[in-house]
This record gives sequence, structure tokens and C-alpha cells, in this order.
Amino acid sequence: MIGDKKIVYSAVQPTGCITLGNYIGAIKNWIKLFEEYNGIFAIADLHALTVRQVPADYRQRAVSFFAQYLACGLDPEKCILYFQSHVHEHTELTWILNCFTYIGEAQRMTQFKDKSAKHADNVNMGLLDYPVLMASDILLYQTDYVPVGIDQKQHLELSRDLAIRFNNLYSPTFTVPEAYIPKQGAKVFSLQDPTKKMSKSDPDVNATVSLIDTPDDVMRKFKRAVTDCDGFVAYDEENKPGVSNLLTIYSAVSGKPIEDIVPMFEGKGYAELKTEVGDAVVETLRPIREKYTDFMKNKDYILSVAKNGAMQASGIARRTLSKVYRKVGLVEA
Ligand code: TRP
Repeated sequence: MIGDKKIVYSAVQPTGCITLGNYIGAIKNWIKLFEEYNGIFAIADLHALTVRQVPADYRQRAVSFFAQYLACGLDPEKCILYFQSHVHEHTELTWILNCFTYIGEAQRMTQFKDKSAKHADNVNMGLLDYPVLMASDILLYQTDYVPVGIDQKQHLELSRDLAIRFNNLYSPTFTVPEAYIPKQGAKVFSLQDPTKKMSKSDPDVNATVSLIDTPDDVMRKFKRAVTDCDGFVAYDEENKPGVSNLLTIYSAVSGKPIEDIVPMFEGKGYAELKTEVGDAVVETLRPIREKYTDFMKNKDYILSVAKNGAMQASGIARRTLSKVYRKVGLVEA
């Protein structure tokens, strides 16, 4: 990697859709982060196999996610972008780390408990092993920072524990990664239940805005957004969560502070607010959607970027993996 810049690693599972909430809350800030540091970013397509996927849809969605990140501005000249499944070192390191992870440790992960309850008919080994694969993602690249949301914090802790355990048993091998608490973008809530975060896997299509929704879809979703019966626009997260969410979104996409927005709607109703927010979101997403559409017309380009990314990633990953193989006593190939 170039220079002595720190390494930032992240990955996303290609499931559900990438939402306006992901964009405002995280992706926008990542773009800068990934360029400031040595950024490595993967589509975690092996992770999401822990739940059943429809193969053709899944393949299409993984490519679509890749294109959406490119369209958001992740630049393959400035960071490494690849599909996790293209770099076999991830699964190889997972096996080794499995031998250093206690079953109890894996069973304690709250996400494992939640997912086992949700998919009670398919509590497979992969579900239990999920955080070990994630630790491999991170540790292969000697990652310094991982920008994580609260839901992945426990998994990152496990990655740190495994790195420290291995380093202590052998000799320093892995960089011990730290959580990067990014400058938090505005938190966006569901348009249908504004007390819940806008989630990429929400089954209610009206609750989320996808980065690639058509302008008509975006407008329709904002028009249907849940508000309240007061009939006046004010920012009050507790008593007016729906309206506050719309104001937050408007502020994030327009760059105007909320204090300046509220007076614009004095004497006006929710219909005006919804239309204004909807229009502003449509304009923000327009260039992303246009770039996305162009990329999707050129799958060869996407695949060549991914291939190049996988080659770069694999070069780094292989160095770590060989060290690990040597240290645990495997015969040199
Ligand atoms: N588990 C993460 C999620 O669902 C995705 C992920 C996989 C990841 N590997 C990672 C995140 C490595 C950060 C670092 O959000």
C-alpha cells in the first residue's frame, strides 16, 4: 500500500437495499475517510450466505451494490474495492482463526442469538462462524480502523480478542484493529415508523428510500411518510418523530441547518414539507442513480474494477496468511 497511511477496512452484506439512511449516515463520510486513509472495502458476499438467498437475485444484487458504491463516489483509483468471495484468503484465515475461537465466545454474540431466533429453522454453522469470518476480513489487511455501527461493535471486539490471542501465543502477527467512530452523519428513521432506524432490510418498501428508487417512488414514499396530527412543522424528536425525521433528511440533503428550515414552513402544512423534502432527495439521488444506471449498462467495467481490486487485496492478504501458516507450523508450500 502507498505510504504509511493507516488502513481503514469495511464491508457490507449485499442484502436488502442501500438506503438514503446509509448514504446520509455513513457512506457520505466514508468516501472522505477511505481517501484520507488507505481504504479497503468489500462486498461481503460470503457473509450473507448464512441465510438462504435466491442465487440469481443474489448475484445480481451483489453487482448492483458494487455499482451503487461506485456511483456514490468510492473511487477505485483511491481505494481497494472487491468482492469478498474473490479473495480466497478470507476463508482460509477463517479456518485457522476458528481453531482459536471458543464456541462459547461465538455463542455469546448477540447477533448470533438474534439471528438464530429469527431463522430458527436454519441455525447453521455459518451463522455461528460469521464473526470469525469478519475477523478474518479485518485482520488479513493489518487494519488499523474499522468504522462500525453499534450493531457490529461486539464483532469487532472479538476480532481484537483473536488478534491479541494469536499475537500472544506466537509473536506479533496481526495489527489489533480499533473501532473508528466516524463523524456521525444524521440518523435517519423509517418513514413508516419514525421511532425505528431506517433499515436496509425493512420488509415494508414504503419505510425506506433506496438509492436507486425512481423519482416517482421517492415522491410517493415521502407523501406517505407517517407524521402526526398536530398540523404544524417543528423539530421535536420526542413528540414529533415523523416530522423531525423529515426535517433531518431535508437538512442533510440541502446542507441547511434545521433552525433555518423550520421557519420556511411557518403556516404551511405537512403536504408542503413532504413535497419539498421529496424534491430535495430526488435531486440528491439523481446523479447517483444516473451514474449507477451507466455502470449497470457496463457490467464488464464493474467486473474489471472488481477483479483489479481482488488482485490488490489478495496481494496484501496473502502476506498475512503466509505468516500465519508459518507461525502455526504448516509446511511451506
Ligand atoms: N458484518 C458486517 C455487517 O453486517 C459486514 C462486514 C463483514 C464487515 N465483514 C466486515 C464490516 C469487516 C466491517 C469489517 O454490517
